[in-house]
Amino acid sequence: MISNWQRFIDFTRSLRFRLTVWNTLVVLVTVVIALISVREGLRYYLLVETDAILDDEVKEILLTFEKLYPDRDQVLASLRRKDEAHLDRDWHIRWLDEDGRTTIWASELAPKHPLTVKLGEHNGHSIWASETHRSIEREINSPNIPHYKIRVGTLMKFIDEDVDRLTRILAPVGLAILLLAPLGGLLLAERAIEPLQRLIRTTERLRASHLDERLELRGVGDELDQLAGKINTFLDEIADHLRKNRDFVANAAHDLRSPLAAIQSSVEVTVEKPRSVEEYEDLLFQINDEVHHLGQLVNQLLQLAESESTAAEIPMQPVPLREVITRTIEMFEPVAEERGVQLKFEPSDDIVVLGTPGQLRQVLTNLVDNAIKFSLTGSSVTVGLTWDSKPGFGLLTVADTGVGIPPEAVGRVFERFYQVERSRQRFGEKRGNGLGLSICQSIVHAHRGTIAVASQLGKGTTFTISLPLANPTT
Ligand SMILES: Nc1ncnc2c1ncn2[C@@H]1O[C@H](COP(=O)(O)OP(=O)(O)O)[C@@H](O)[C@H]1O
Ligand SMILES: [Mg+2]
Repeated sequence: MISNWQRFIDFTRSLRFRLTVWNTLVVLVTVVIALISVREGLRYYLLVETDAILDDEVKEILLTFEKLYPDRDQVLASLRRKDEAHLDRDWHIRWLDEDGRTTIWASELAPKHPLTVKLGEHNGHSIWASETHRSIEREINSPNIPHYKIRVGTLMKFIDEDVDRLTRILAPVGLAILLLAPLGGLLLAERAIEPLQRLIRTTERLRASHLDERLELRGVGDELDQLAGKINTFLDEIADHLRKNRDFVANAAHDLRSPLAAIQSSVEVTVEKPRSVEEYEDLLFQINDEVHHLGQLVNQLLQLAESESTAAEIPMQPVPLREVITRTIEMFEPVAEERGVQLKFEPSDDIVVLGTPGQLRQVLTNLVDNAIKFSLTGSSVTVGLTWDSKPGFGLLTVADTGVGIPPEAVGRVFERFYQVERSRQRFGEKRGNGLGLSICQSIVHAHRGTIAVASQLGKGTTFTISLPLANPTT
């Protein structure tokens, strides 16, 4: 019992039910309005028609007056004849005095008193009406005849009867439509909902584990197609995201395993037989190297995870970039000197962005480290700081005249673990792991900024970072 009731409640909440109710209401209202319009239209048409016929009659009587007046007997006789001729149509004639109130003569069918409600004037005649009667009046406007008024009237019941007859014909039609409206409403609702249900059925098939299922587009470009398109794009993004994450874990595992494997094999080889102190020392140095690299890798992985998971909630504060740059340059000066690379910073506008000082230093460190690492002796690395052409943003650039990046690789340097193949060999003595730039990118994005790279093989590379200013109006 309860479940039936619940099912009913659920049904009343469904889109199908609500659409049915709405469609039905619209059909009903439209039909009722149409029927009323037809009825009232007919009544109006009949009234206009009747008025015209009555007016013709009045005009004829006026002519009779002109012809026979002042012979009152002849006039009266003519009026009686007319009256008799129209008996079957229930017309009545009234001859009023100049004051328009006193009846001089009236046919038997005429109401006792002349009608007193005037509806209006039209083409020289006036219309008089009551609930039961309707008359047309004209004034005699001939020289030698007093300004008598002549009315010819009829019963409203004829018009009402015609209208009622039409209503009786229309009523069954209206009733049929009233009964069929909910059915029509339901059919319309079904049609409207059908594609939605297909959408729901496909969505039910979607599984997080295999995201290759896509919603079908019907190709009509309506809202449902748009929705399906949006969901498909979203699914593409999720699938892409998942794939990248899987690659990331695989790469991370691989990169963590290789230093461990190196340590393991070195230790195994060394302990096979007794060794000299120098040999043990050598092993320890090797192990130290690998452990150092492992530590760095783990740190970077943590940074990456952190910058992604806390992207929304890092505490932002005004950071004067000039200070951050000066300190980083100082830190890298010895390394640059050792490699014969000239490190320059041209202090310029004092740009204060909104961010986290530690993270921004991290970005700069990674970029300057790369710039020095991928430069040959005699090259230069220049850090620049200006206003961005985009209002409210500051621009940080790190440009080197180093080895450059091949065009096909430029688009990939921000990918996790990506390294241009050549750099693994040539700059192998200082092992990176391909995470630096992706860390930079996720930090910059968390700061609501953008990072871009432009490079020419053999000429050099420029990284450009745009960050929101702390005080955008300055
Ligand atoms: N300034 C640069 N000049 C040339 N190549 C660069 C430069 N910066 C980055 N790259 C290329 O992009 C790759 C990814 O950089 P990064 O993510 O910092 O990894 P890593 O420095 O650990 O190799 C580098 O391996 C290198 O091939
Ligand atoms: Mg790097």
